[in-house]
Amino acid sequence: MLEIKNLSKTYKKGNVKALDNVSLSINEGEFVALLGQNGAGKSTLINILAGNVTKDNGTVIVGDYNLDKNELETKKILGIVPQEITFDFVFSVGEILKNQSLYFGIKENQKYIDELLATLSLSEKKDAKSRGLSGGMKRRLLIAKALVHRPKLLILDEPTAGVDIELRRSLYDFLNQLHQQGTTIILTTHYLEEAEKLCDRIIIINEGKIIADDSKNKLMDTLGNEAMVELNFDNKKELSDFHFLTSYSPVMKNSKTLQMKASKQNIADIFYRISSNKVKFSNFKIEPQKLEDVFLTLINDESNK
Ligand SMILES: Nc1ncnc2c1ncn2[C@@H]1O[C@H](COP(=O)(O)OP(=O)(O)O)[C@@H](O)[C@H]1O
Ligand SMILES: [Mg+2]
Repeated sequence: MLEIKNLSKTYKKGNVKALDNVSLSINEGEFVALLGQNGAGKSTLINILAGNVTKDNGTVIVGDYNLDKNELETKKILGIVPQEITFDFVFSVGEILKNQSLYFGIKENQKYIDELLATLSLSEKKDAKSRGLSGGMKRRLLIAKALVHRPKLLILDEPTAGVDIELRRSLYDFLNQLHQQGTTIILTTHYLEEAEKLCDRIIIINEGKIIADDSKNKLMDTLGNEAMVELNFDNKKELSDFHFLTSYSPVMKNSKTLQMKASKQNIADIFYRISSNKVKFSNFKIEPQKLEDVFLTLINDESNK
């Protein structure tokens, strides 16, 4: 669906190497997160696909088409939601979507446009000028605009930045739905819980280089083997009550809550020690390590090289 080989880009201004020999391949039907800190090169990559930034080197194949030879055909396959919000503000919401359809040569698209407006809670704003929309509405309009021609590959560049939680949730549902209907999706984000919830595969980019590309589960397995174990008690406890757990360096989170980090293989041992010492707990929680921890580990490893 998308094949990127040895893609490089240095911005003359500031002599910034934004992309350094990036290669990746996305299969049809995947839902991929492209993660990276600010300045990692995510938008540069997406803007090259969108034709807004010229690459220095490398090849980009979208579907069966080479971006250098057949840009218009690649545009039909791609739906891109840019990070920057730019509309022709003199047009209304409805007009913007109609114009975008016409750009793709689709004359009769009103039914689908109305559907998109409804799903993105914009129906009431159909005749409103885009200028007057709230930030969240503009973001949703950008998404509708990227979808009018029913692209097979949808790429969203930080679509939830600055968007409130409720709206984010409804956007997640919408993306899930599109994915289930067969759209391949690449989601760029620095909200890790977003990637964690939605995507099956995670690509991490750091300083213009891909430093990880694997299934979410595998990434978490190799790097995220630690879990946080928490035990709750009905009565007040002291750390010395848990001398039999010293090797796990537990801490009292409060007088009735004990916490410790442990590798998943050791969890059974923790509970064995507790029951052997006849300690009764009222509740417990085991939380797997978050993607965020994995992400930070990887980035730190990379900068220590
Ligand atoms: N138009 C530009 N001119 C000069 N430098 C740029 C431009 N756009 C981005 N950069 C620089 O390129 C690097 C990558 O930026 P960007 O692709 O926007 O990263 P991200 O989207 O991951 O935050 C950053 O160092 C950024 O400052
Ligand atoms: Mg960006």
